[in-house]
Amino acid sequence: MTVLQALNARVSRRAYTDKPIPPELILRLEKNIETVNRIAGLSIRFLPDGSGAFARLSKTYGLLTGVRSLFCMAGQAEDPFLREKIGYYGEFLVLSATQMGLGTCWIGGSFDKEYPFYELAPSEKLVCVVAVGFSPEELTVREKLVRKALHRADKPMEALYDADEPPPEWFLDGVRAVAKAPSAVNRHPTRFLWKDGRVFVQNEGNFSYQSIDLGIAKAHFALGAGGRFEPGERSEFVKEENPLAAWPFDR
Ligand SMILES: Cc1cc2nc3c(=O)[nH]c(=O)nc-3n(C[C@H](O)[C@H](O)[C@H](O)COP(=O)(O)O)c2cc1C
Repeated sequence: MTVLQALNARVSRRAYTDKPIPPELILRLEKNIETVNRIAGLSIRFLPDGSGAFARLSKTYGLLTGVRSLFCMAGQAEDPFLREKIGYYGEFLVLSATQMGLGTCWIGGSFDKEYPFYELAPSEKLVCVVAVGFSPEELTVREKLVRKALHRADKPMEALYDADEPPPEWFLDGVRAVAKAPSAVNRHPTRFLWKDGRVFVQNEGNFSYQSIDLGIAKAHFALGAGGRFEPGERSEFVKEENPLAAWPFDR
Protein backbone atom coordinates (compact mmCIF):
# COMPACT_ATOMS: atom_id res chain seq x y z
CA MET A 1 0.00 0.00 0.00
CA THR A 2 1.46 3.39 -0.95
CA VAL A 3 1.41 6.33 1.44
CA LEU A 4 -1.41 7.99 -0.49
CA GLN A 5 -3.42 4.75 -0.60
CA ALA A 6 -3.02 4.54 3.20
CA LEU A 7 -4.12 8.17 3.54
CA ASN A 8 -7.28 7.42 1.57
CA ALA A 9 -7.99 4.04 3.20
CA ARG A 10 -7.51 5.04 6.88
CA VAL A 11 -10.51 5.38 9.17
CA SER A 12 -10.50 5.43 12.97
CA ARG A 13 -10.84 1.87 14.30
CA ARG A 14 -12.41 1.39 17.73
CA ALA A 15 -12.45 -2.43 17.89
CA TYR A 16 -9.28 -4.51 18.18
CA THR A 17 -8.80 -8.28 18.04
CA ASP A 18 -6.49 -10.17 20.39
CA LYS A 19 -4.06 -10.99 17.55
CA PRO A 20 -0.69 -9.71 18.78
CA ILE A 21 1.37 -7.36 16.64
CA PRO A 22 4.27 -9.54 15.39
CA PRO A 23 7.77 -8.61 16.60
CA GLU A 24 8.95 -7.54 13.12
CA LEU A 25 6.12 -4.99 12.86
CA ILE A 26 6.82 -3.76 16.39
CA LEU A 27 10.43 -3.19 15.34
CA ARG A 28 9.26 -1.13 12.35
CA LEU A 29 6.86 0.91 14.51
CA GLU A 30 9.64 1.57 17.00
CA LYS A 31 12.08 2.54 14.27
CA ASN A 32 9.51 5.01 12.91
CA ILE A 33 9.01 6.45 16.39
CA GLU A 34 12.76 6.85 16.80
CA THR A 35 12.87 8.72 13.47
CA VAL A 36 10.16 11.24 14.32
CA ASN A 37 11.46 11.72 17.86
CA ARG A 38 14.86 12.58 16.39
CA ILE A 39 13.51 14.92 13.68
CA ALA A 40 10.99 16.73 15.85
CA GLY A 41 12.47 16.53 19.36
CA LEU A 42 9.50 14.50 20.65
CA SER A 43 9.38 11.63 23.18
CA ILE A 44 6.73 9.38 21.63
CA ARG A 45 6.85 5.79 22.89
CA PHE A 46 5.29 2.49 21.88
CA LEU A 47 3.52 0.76 24.75
CA PRO A 48 2.87 -2.94 23.98
CA ASP A 49 0.14 -3.18 26.61
CA GLY A 50 -1.63 0.02 27.60
CA SER A 51 -4.99 -1.67 28.20
CA GLY A 52 -4.88 -0.48 31.83
CA ALA A 53 -5.56 3.04 30.56
CA PHE A 54 -9.05 1.85 29.65
CA ALA A 55 -9.78 -0.62 32.44
CA ARG A 56 -11.38 1.84 34.86
CA LEU A 57 -13.47 3.68 32.28
CA SER A 58 -16.59 1.60 32.15
CA LYS A 59 -18.59 4.33 30.41
CA THR A 60 -16.23 5.95 27.93
CA TYR A 61 -14.45 2.68 27.32
CA GLY A 62 -17.65 1.69 25.54
CA LEU A 63 -16.31 3.65 22.59
CA LEU A 64 -13.23 1.49 22.20
CA THR A 65 -12.96 -2.27 22.69
CA GLY A 66 -9.96 -4.58 22.89
CA VAL A 67 -7.35 -1.78 22.89
CA ARG A 68 -3.93 -3.10 23.86
CA SER A 69 -1.00 -1.36 22.19
CA LEU A 70 -0.64 2.41 22.18
CA PHE A 71 1.55 5.13 20.82
CA CYS A 72 2.02 7.40 23.84
CA MET A 73 2.24 10.86 22.31
CA ALA A 74 4.61 12.83 24.50
CA GLY A 75 7.19 15.57 24.19
CA GLN A 76 8.77 18.50 26.01
CA ALA A 77 6.11 20.36 28.01
CA GLU A 78 7.83 23.68 27.25
CA ASP A 79 7.84 23.14 23.47
CA PRO A 80 5.51 25.87 22.11
CA PHE A 81 4.60 23.64 19.15
CA LEU A 82 4.28 20.40 21.12
CA ARG A 83 0.63 19.65 20.29
CA GLU A 84 0.92 20.60 16.64
CA LYS A 85 4.09 18.52 16.20
CA ILE A 86 2.40 15.56 17.91
CA GLY A 87 -0.39 15.87 15.30
CA TYR A 88 1.93 16.32 12.29
CA TYR A 89 4.48 13.60 13.08
CA GLY A 90 1.98 11.36 14.84
CA GLU A 91 -0.13 11.21 11.70
CA PHE A 92 2.88 9.94 9.74
CA LEU A 93 3.14 7.15 12.33
CA VAL A 94 -0.58 6.44 11.90
CA LEU A 95 -0.33 6.28 8.11
CA SER A 96 2.72 4.03 8.24
CA ALA A 97 0.84 1.70 10.65
CA THR A 98 -2.06 1.71 8.15
CA GLN A 99 0.38 0.60 5.44
CA MET A 100 1.33 -2.31 7.72
CA GLY A 101 -2.33 -3.40 7.87
CA LEU A 102 -2.88 -2.11 11.42
CA GLY A 103 -5.92 -0.21 12.70
CA THR A 104 -5.44 3.05 14.61
CA CYS A 105 -7.48 5.62 16.54
CA TRP A 106 -6.32 8.96 17.94
CA ILE A 107 -7.63 9.17 21.51
CA GLY A 108 -7.75 12.55 23.19
CA GLY A 109 -10.45 11.95 25.76
CA SER A 110 -11.56 8.34 26.10
CA PHE A 111 -8.73 7.07 28.29
CA ASP A 112 -7.72 7.22 31.92
CA LYS A 113 -5.34 10.16 32.19
CA GLU A 114 -4.36 9.12 35.72
CA TYR A 115 -3.09 5.75 34.47
CA PRO A 116 0.68 5.49 35.09
CA PHE A 117 1.76 4.80 31.50
CA TYR A 118 5.44 5.05 32.32
CA GLU A 119 7.83 7.35 34.04
CA LEU A 120 7.66 10.71 32.25
CA ALA A 121 10.76 12.88 32.72
CA PRO A 122 9.88 16.04 34.70
CA SER A 123 10.22 18.08 31.50
CA GLU A 124 7.86 15.82 29.50
CA LYS A 125 4.13 15.91 28.93
CA LEU A 126 1.79 13.22 27.61
CA VAL A 127 -0.55 14.91 25.11
CA CYS A 128 -2.77 12.02 24.01
CA VAL A 129 -2.53 8.40 22.88
CA VAL A 130 -3.15 6.51 19.64
CA ALA A 131 -4.52 2.97 19.76
CA VAL A 132 -2.77 0.63 17.34
CA GLY A 133 -3.42 -3.03 16.58
CA PHE A 134 -5.26 -5.49 14.40
CA SER A 135 -8.94 -4.74 13.82
CA PRO A 136 -11.64 -6.92 12.29
CA GLU A 137 -11.59 -6.55 8.52
CA GLU A 138 -14.99 -4.83 8.42
CA LEU A 139 -16.22 -2.16 10.84
CA THR A 140 -18.20 -3.90 13.63
CA VAL A 141 -21.84 -2.93 14.19
CA ARG A 142 -20.76 -1.13 17.36
CA GLU A 143 -18.03 0.77 15.51
CA LYS A 144 -20.56 1.87 12.91
CA LEU A 145 -22.85 3.18 15.67
CA VAL A 146 -20.06 5.08 17.44
CA ARG A 147 -18.88 6.43 14.11
CA LYS A 148 -22.35 7.71 13.31
CA ALA A 149 -22.65 9.37 16.72
CA LEU A 150 -19.18 10.94 16.74
CA HIS A 151 -18.87 11.68 13.10
CA ARG A 152 -20.60 14.94 12.37
CA ALA A 153 -21.48 15.42 8.74
CA ASP A 154 -18.28 15.65 6.72
CA LYS A 155 -17.47 19.26 5.82
CA PRO A 156 -17.74 19.90 2.09
CA MET A 157 -14.38 20.45 0.41
CA GLU A 158 -15.21 24.13 -0.10
CA ALA A 159 -15.44 24.64 3.66
CA LEU A 160 -11.83 23.52 4.04
CA TYR A 161 -10.20 26.25 1.95
CA ASP A 162 -10.36 29.84 0.73
CA ALA A 163 -8.78 31.20 -2.43
CA ASP A 164 -8.37 34.66 -3.97
CA GLU A 165 -8.23 33.09 -7.46
CA PRO A 166 -8.78 29.58 -8.83
CA PRO A 167 -6.04 27.56 -7.08
CA PRO A 168 -3.81 25.06 -8.92
CA GLU A 169 -4.75 21.38 -8.98
CA TRP A 170 -1.95 20.44 -6.53
CA PHE A 171 -3.50 22.77 -3.93
CA LEU A 172 -6.87 21.06 -4.39
CA ASP A 173 -5.16 17.65 -4.11
CA GLY A 174 -3.82 18.87 -0.76
CA VAL A 175 -7.30 19.91 0.39
CA ARG A 176 -8.75 16.55 -0.74
CA ALA A 177 -6.14 14.83 1.42
CA VAL A 178 -7.13 17.06 4.36
CA ALA A 179 -10.77 15.98 3.95
CA LYS A 180 -9.57 12.42 4.69
CA ALA A 181 -7.72 13.39 7.87
CA PRO A 182 -8.77 12.33 11.35
CA SER A 183 -9.93 15.25 13.47
CA ALA A 184 -11.37 15.42 17.00
CA VAL A 185 -15.15 14.83 16.67
CA ASN A 186 -14.59 15.23 12.94
CA ARG A 187 -14.61 18.99 13.37
CA HIS A 188 -11.90 19.86 10.82
CA PRO A 189 -11.17 23.34 12.19
CA THR A 190 -8.25 24.09 9.84
CA ARG A 191 -8.72 26.09 6.64
CA PHE A 192 -6.11 26.25 3.90
CA LEU A 193 -5.68 29.61 2.21
CA TRP A 194 -4.49 30.23 -1.35
CA LYS A 195 -3.40 33.87 -1.36
CA ASP A 196 -1.09 35.68 -3.81
CA GLY A 197 0.08 32.30 -5.09
CA ARG A 198 1.09 31.09 -1.61
CA VAL A 199 -0.43 28.64 0.87
CA PHE A 200 -1.19 29.46 4.50
CA VAL A 201 -3.36 27.91 7.19
CA GLN A 202 -5.96 29.40 9.48
CA ASN A 203 -7.45 27.69 12.51
CA GLU A 204 -11.11 28.43 13.16
CA GLY A 205 -12.63 28.45 16.64
CA ASN A 206 -10.87 27.45 19.83
CA PHE A 207 -11.49 23.79 20.63
CA SER A 208 -9.57 21.29 22.67
CA TYR A 209 -7.30 19.22 20.44
CA GLN A 210 -7.32 22.05 17.87
CA SER A 211 -3.52 22.23 17.65
CA ILE A 212 -3.28 18.46 17.24
CA ASP A 213 -5.89 18.70 14.46
CA LEU A 214 -3.84 21.50 12.87
CA GLY A 215 -0.73 19.30 12.76
CA ILE A 216 -2.66 16.35 11.35
CA ALA A 217 -4.31 18.52 8.67
CA LYS A 218 -0.92 19.97 7.67
CA ALA A 219 0.54 16.46 7.39
CA HIS A 220 -2.29 15.42 5.05
CA PHE A 221 -1.98 18.61 2.99
CA ALA A 222 1.80 18.14 2.69
CA LEU A 223 1.36 14.59 1.40
CA GLY A 224 -1.54 15.42 -0.94
CA ALA A 225 -0.03 18.60 -2.41
CA GLY A 226 3.61 17.46 -2.39
CA GLY A 227 5.68 19.61 -0.06
CA ARG A 228 6.38 20.50 3.56
CA PHE A 229 5.00 22.60 6.36
CA GLU A 230 6.90 24.09 9.28
CA PRO A 231 5.07 24.28 12.61
CA GLY A 232 3.15 27.39 13.62
CA GLU A 233 -0.23 28.84 12.72
CA ARG A 234 1.34 31.40 10.43
CA SER A 235 3.73 29.06 8.67
CA GLU A 236 3.82 28.89 4.89
CA PHE A 237 3.68 25.70 2.80
CA VAL A 238 6.80 24.90 0.78
CA LYS A 239 6.04 23.07 -2.49
CA GLU A 240 8.68 20.48 -3.39
CA GLU A 241 9.63 18.55 -6.53
CA ASN A 242 9.51 15.31 -4.54
CA PRO A 243 5.80 14.70 -3.82
CA LEU A 244 6.68 12.77 -0.65
CA ALA A 245 9.14 15.37 0.66
CA ALA A 246 7.38 15.43 4.04
CA TRP A 247 7.34 11.64 4.52
CA PRO A 248 9.99 10.81 7.11
CA PHE A 249 10.18 7.02 6.58
CA ASP A 250 11.30 4.61 3.86
CA ARG A 251 8.47 4.32 1.35
C1 LIG B 1 -6.96 14.81 18.37
C2 LIG B 1 -8.00 13.74 18.22
C3 LIG B 1 -8.62 13.21 19.35
C4 LIG B 1 -9.57 12.17 19.21
N1 LIG B 1 -10.12 11.64 20.34
C5 LIG B 1 -10.99 10.60 20.22
C6 LIG B 1 -11.51 9.98 21.40
O1 LIG B 1 -11.20 10.37 22.54
N2 LIG B 1 -12.36 8.92 21.25
C7 LIG B 1 -12.70 8.45 20.00
O2 LIG B 1 -13.45 7.49 19.92
N3 LIG B 1 -12.23 9.04 18.86
C8 LIG B 1 -11.37 10.08 18.94
N4 LIG B 1 -10.85 10.66 17.80
C9 LIG B 1 -11.20 10.16 16.46
C10 LIG B 1 -12.17 11.11 15.73
O3 LIG B 1 -13.46 10.98 16.29
C11 LIG B 1 -12.18 10.76 14.22
O4 LIG B 1 -10.90 11.05 13.68
C12 LIG B 1 -13.22 11.56 13.45
O5 LIG B 1 -14.53 11.23 13.87
C13 LIG B 1 -13.11 11.30 11.93
O6 LIG B 1 -13.26 9.95 11.63
P1 LIG B 1 -12.13 9.14 10.86
O7 LIG B 1 -10.87 9.21 11.69
O8 LIG B 1 -12.65 7.74 10.76
O9 LIG B 1 -11.91 9.77 9.52
C14 LIG B 1 -9.91 11.69 17.91
C15 LIG B 1 -9.28 12.25 16.78
C16 LIG B 1 -8.32 13.24 16.93
C17 LIG B 1 -7.63 13.78 15.71
